Amino acid sequence: MHIPDIIIAVDGYSSTGKSSFAKAIAKEFSFTYLDSGALYRGVTLFAMENGFIDEDCRIDEKGLETALNNLDIHFGEGGTYMGDRLIEKEIRSLEVASKVSPIATVPQVRAYVDRKLREEGQHKRVVMDGRDIGTTVFPEAELKIFMTADPLVRAERRAAEMRAKGEDVSIENVLKNLQERDYIDSHRETSPLSKADDAVVLDNSYMTPDDQMQWLKKVMAERFGC
Ligand code: DC
Repeated sequence: MHIPDIIIAVDGYSSTGKSSFAKAIAKEFSFTYLDSGALYRGVTLFAMENGFIDEDCRIDEKGLETALNNLDIHFGEGGTYMGDRLIEKEIRSLEVASKVSPIATVPQVRAYVDRKLREEGQHKRVVMDGRDIGTTVFPEAELKIFMTADPLVRAERRAAEMRAKGEDVSIENVLKNLQERDYIDSHRETSPLSKADDAVVLDNSYMTPDDQMQWLKKVMAERFGC
């Protein structure tokens, strides 16, 4: 399959398997994978560690905005880095997950992450997963996929993932966290989660990873004749 130099945007709700699918696409077509949520999680960890967000999710927006000028969050060997420090494990904790959506509503945080993503995407042949890649970060992306799945299926997947990493979580708490994030993500003022008009919808509640790849290849063949 000869794939043209394109940008693939994979947007959708939390725990719909966006990152697994985006990684599989990157592997299949030798594209670079970029995880935009990891950058929001990195900023959240930074905000937590430096007192810019408290237990009740009150944010010191002014302080955070100023600190962003000197913040270096980037992708490297093994995942996401804050300066020289690999933060891949910390940014996946439930504590970061419970604070990331409020942090992602801050316009300056969104501008910071958008800038990083655009720098990384300028050479094409990238697949990015997120919430607003197809609508805001790369509205010109040649292929936009919008992923969705049944909330309970999503909660079960996320809980299994967290348990595999040793976190003791209940389905109820995970479902609650997912629903809160869905609400905040879809209702925030700046770039809310929404499907781009030209995105193709993939509901993968009952699909295997293989089914999804077959689906994608069909879409690619129709779109790009490859
Ligand atoms: O994909 P994820 O669960 O790692 O994303 C973490 C959070 O980051 C998610 O709750 C919303 C936010 N996010 C966003 O607002 N825009 C993106 N492009 C990606 C993530």
